[in-house]
Amino acid sequence: MPGTIKVHDKEFVPYISQEEITYKVKELAAQLNADYAGKRPLFISVLNGSFMFSADLFKYLTIDAEICFIKLASYKGTKSTGHVITAIGLDTDITGRDIIILEDIIDTGKTINQFLPQVRNQQPSSLKVAVLLHKPEATVFPIDIDYVCFTIPNKFVLGYGLDYDGLGRNLGQLYQLKLD
Ligand code: IMP
Ligand code: MG
Repeated sequence: MPGTIKVHDKEFVPYISQEEITYKVKELAAQLNADYAGKRPLFISVLNGSFMFSADLFKYLTIDAEICFIKLASYKGTKSTGHVITAIGLDTDITGRDIIILEDIIDTGKTINQFLPQVRNQQPSSLKVAVLLHKPEATVFPIDIDYVCFTIPNKFVLGYGLDYDGLGRNLGQLYQLKLD
């Protein structure tokens, strides 16, 4: 297949183009600009995977908005370990703030499910979740996702911030694991 790439031991095929991603990210920004007009929301971006999505989205926001970063990790290779580690915690006071969590992808939902109670405990005035990708077939922890750019099947994806064992985050578009 044209455009097939190899990362570590696996082959990936082009899946969602840079143009399609930009279109959806701009659409999400427009929605947030409308929903948070006159407010000053604080975005919490979940590293590592969300860095590219968060940076692009942030450029298209015209409202007053702040951003901070936390780092959670649960993946090894192409499988979730089911064990979530907080590598960098929340260092910003979120009490009384309008919070929007930015995630690259909701897969099993475990990562976000573990983090949400920590955020709720600090009593923000509102709490929403915005994601680039959602794999509903894989999601086993119930979660309300408020904003989704793409709903995708349960197949491993790579690029636009998402990695396979550390590699592939620099790809400007999304790729999907090639199945033989
Ligand atoms: P969850 O806890 O199972 O929802 O997994 C969330 C995290 O796993 C995401 O923030 C990603 O970093 C990673 N992840 C889940 N699915 C994929 C994928 O298809 N490709 C790359 N990383 C993924
Ligand atoms: Mg992630």
